[in-house]
Formats: sequence, structure tokens, C-alpha cells
Amino acid sequence: MLTKDSNSATPVIEIRDLHKSYGDLEVLKGVSMIAPRGHVTSLIGSSGSGKSTLLRCANLLEDSQQGEIIFNGEPILWKGAGLDRRPADRKQVTRIRTNLSMVFQQFNLWAHMTILQNVMEAPVTVMGRDKAEVEEKARMYLDKVGIGDKCDVYPAQMSGGQQQRAAIARALCMEPQALLFDEPTSALDPELEQEVIKVIKALAEEGRTMIIVTHDMRMAADISDHVVFLHKGLIEEEGHPSDLFGNPKSERLKQFLSATVPA
Ligand SMILES: Nc1ncnc2c1ncn2[C@@H]1O[C@H](COP(=O)(O)OP(=O)(O)OP(=O)(O)O)[C@@H](O)[C@H]1O
Ligand SMILES: [Mg+2]
Repeated sequence: MLTKDSNSATPVIEIRDLHKSYGDLEVLKGVSMIAPRGHVTSLIGSSGSGKSTLLRCANLLEDSQQGEIIFNGEPILWKGAGLDRRPADRKQVTRIRTNLSMVFQQFNLWAHMTILQNVMEAPVTVMGRDKAEVEEKARMYLDKVGIGDKCDVYPAQMSGGQQQRAAIARALCMEPQALLFDEPTSALDPELEQEVIKVIKALAEEGRTMIIVTHDMRMAADISDHVVFLHKGLIEEEGHPSDLFGNPKSERLKQFLSATVPA
């Protein structure tokens, strides 16, 4: 669903000075980033640096205490302040969330539904779209990720790589304005990882707007337009992947890369 502001110059997501705490623990300490339309932004950083939290705040799955989240030029409306701050308009939240699809490390497919039912579920029940049209789209997206022959099987009958591709087809079937990935390949064996990376790469080449949290530096270097290195809840360094990986400036990023980049 495109709004009047969804032109190419307006970022799909803009985050300004975001602060997020869990009780006394401040996890995001003033983070600003944008997801420009048609670009791939990767988020990297050590375990616990706040990557998943940032993604979940962007998708309004988590509340944040300070700062702005702007979707297609439309700021999220808040009520309350600090730990009591919540989105003020539930309709706005639903509208924005259905335009941002998440893909999780653990796939999160429904075990009791076939792959086709999984992919059709949200567009039909949450978005109220026409069932026959959604089915056609669902089959098309399952084909696109290379598992068009798996429509009638259950998740447990598929490999991890196939399940993750089903989860990507499910995200695509929402026809969102941006895809948010949280470590989409971390739960997979190396050879299954490659089939998922191939799909993500093809989506990047199509010019889809994506934010990808990943520990896979090779994928980040390969497909990103922009890479953000998060350290203890703050952006320590960011830039084009060739600069960030080829010529890191901060000691922390240098240390992080020397510990994580495969030979
Ligand atoms: N629901 C929660 N309640 C309390 N603390 C949390 C919660 N979720 C995350 N945290 C804490 O917030 C910090 C950031 O967590 P987050 O999951 O965002 O890190 P991450 O960068 O995604 O790490 P990883 O690479 O391990 O996935 C951690 O210290 C974590 O323990
Ligand atoms: Mg995480």
C-alpha cells in the first residue's frame, strides 16, 4: 500500500536518536539510521550490541522511550513519555507493521499449517485480501524462492533452508514496502545457508528495500549499499561496505572484523 509520500526520495524508514531501555538497562542510546527506498542496509555488531532491538523497535514490535520513527515521511505518533511511551494510534501501528515484513532466524512458521497456508495466512486474515488472489501470489512467491513444489507439505517435512525460503515467501506475500531480516542464515548449515543467501541477493538486485541484521560479513559486503556497525547501543561507524570492511577506522570495528571475518 503506497501512501502519497512514498516517492523515491523519502526513506521507507527513518529513525532519529532512538533510545530504548529494558528496565534499568539502556540498550539503544541514541541511534539514527535510514532505510532508503530500494537500498539494502546491513546492521552488524557483537552479540548484545542492540541489533535485534533496533529492528524490533523499527517494526514497532518493541516500545522505545525517546526519539522518532518515521515511516514514508509519516512520524509515529506517541502518547506518554519515557518508560510509559506507547504508540498513540493503533491503526497507524497496524498499517505500518503490515508494510514491514520480518524474517526471523528461527523461521517462525506455523507447524500445523502447510507451506501454502503459512504464506497466505497474514494477507488473508490480517489484511483481509481476496483469498484466490492471495493464493496466486503465494504460489508465485514460493516459485520465486525455489520451493513451488512444497505448497502442500508441512514445515517439519522441509530442510532449514527450505523453511527459511518459505518464511521469505511469506514476508513477500505481504507485499511490504521493506523487508527486515534478523540473522536469516544463522540457524542454517553452510550449504543451506547458501540457498537462502542466493534468494536474499536476488531480492537485493530487484531493488527491494531491506534492513538485514547479520553475522555474515561476506553477505553484508556483497549485497549492502550501506553498513551500520552497532556497538553497545550506539553507532560506532557506518558507511559503504567497501570502506567499512576495506578500511575500518575505529579500533572497535577493526577488532570486531578481525574476530568475525572468515579467512
Ligand atoms: N526482552 C528483553 N528483556 C530484557 N533485556 C533484553 C531483552 N531483549 C534484549 N535484551 C538485552 O538487550 C541487549 C541487546 O539485545 P539484542 O537482542 O538487541 O542484541 P543483538 O545485537 O541482537 O545480539 P545477538 O547478536 O546476540 O542477536 C542485550 O543486553 C540483551 O540481553
Ligand atoms: Mg539479535
